[in-house]
Formats: sequence, structure tokens, C-alpha cells
Amino acid sequence: MAIIAPSILSADFARLGEEVRAAEVAGADWIHIDIMDGQYVPNLTFGPPVVAAIRSCTALTFDAHLMVETPDRLLADVAAAGADRITVHAEASTHLHRTVHAIRELGKGAGVALNPHTPLSVLDYVLDDVELVLIMTVNPGFGGQSFIHGMLPKIKQLRQTLVARGRGDVHIQVDGGINAETSKLVREAGADVLVAGNYVFGHADRAAAIASLRD
Ligand code: DX5
Ligand code: ZN
Repeated sequence: MAIIAPSILSADFARLGEEVRAAEVAGADWIHIDIMDGQYVPNLTFGPPVVAAIRSCTALTFDAHLMVETPDRLLADVAAAGADRITVHAEASTHLHRTVHAIRELGKGAGVALNPHTPLSVLDYVLDDVELVLIMTVNPGFGGQSFIHGMLPKIKQLRQTLVARGRGDVHIQVDGGINAETSKLVREAGADVLVAGNYVFGHADRAAAIASLRD
């Protein structure tokens, strides 16, 4: 069954702790935390102090998605704030292999994210070291964008590559434009971790929204 990771980017920031608790009660598996620096992406969100503030609100896995330049400088603080998994963008790290290993040395699950235009081949020499690959299904920076259907063959290809390399255990996460319809498409293609911001937090009945992503 798919892992559902609501993105708090679409939550009410004035009530962030309550929103995280509500997501847990509604059936979320992980909490997806979008850290944006206003440089790598145009948008600016929050950093480790906010992650630490909501850590006490839930025991669910904190899945940090770093949309920042030179992510290495933030890894220790994000880990100390309570992230369980840390995903960095391949495009934002000059020494991606080193960054992935730095995350592992902090005792956290390492993930690598690829923007829509980035080929899977950038993963060739780090695939054995990661627990998760995030295929962006929108260009990062904002919630509420439309799903890019051209990413479906990329997800399929990645699943085939992982199986062929004996790494079928690696999670394929998708992020952007996920709703009840696109959820089916990405799961058929081989994704098993679904991030959803607007669809979950914009829905009056969050439990129904999360359940519909699993149907
Ligand atoms: C986009 C973020 C996403 C965002 C997804 O850059 O990484 O996690 O919250 O939002 P929706 O699900 O609304 O497309
Ligand atoms: Zn994200």
C-alpha cells in the first residue's frame, strides 16, 4: 500500500502544530516538510527551528525535502530538528555523493530529488547509497501546480532500473499535482510514496482525501 505524505506547505501556517496533528489523525504516514531558501526556488518557507517546533506534535516520520542551494550546510541542523529522512536535489549539490553520505552519517534516510528536466542517469553512481528517489512531478517551488504527465515514463524506467539492480526496496516518491486521479497513474508506474499538499490540506475532509489517494 502506498505511503501518503501530506505536505505542510499547504497547511495553515498560523496553526501548524494542529495541522500536523490533524494530518496524523486523518491517516497520514509521513509528514512532508518543504524547506525552500528563496534561491534554489523562488519561494521561501521555513527552516530547522520550525521543524523542531512541530516535532513534539506527532511521532510520524518527518520527511524533509530540501529545495536549497548547497544543502550540505543545513543537513546537521535539519537532522537535529527532528527530520527522519532528508532529500536533496541532485541539481543543487555539487558533490552529490558526499552529500548523500553526510545524510547517512547523521543516521538519517537519504533521498535524492530530480527536477522534471533532470535525467535519471545522474543517479547512476549514487543509487546504491539512497533509500528514496523523489521524481518531481511539477517544477519545485509552489503548491497547487498541475501534474506533468511526461513524468510517468520516467517513474516506470526508474522502477525497472531499481529492480534490475536488485534495489527494488528503494522508495520512489512523487511530489506535485497528486490527487485521486494522478495517484492511480503514479502508482501504476511504480511510485510508492505520494506527497500531496493542496489535495489533502485543501480538502475539508482530510481523512477522505488521504483514503482516496490509496483507492
Ligand atoms: C513543491 C513542493 C511540494 C508541494 C506539493 O515544490 O515540493 O511538496 O507541497 O504541492 P501540491 O501537492 O499542492 O502540488
Ligand atoms: Zn516537496
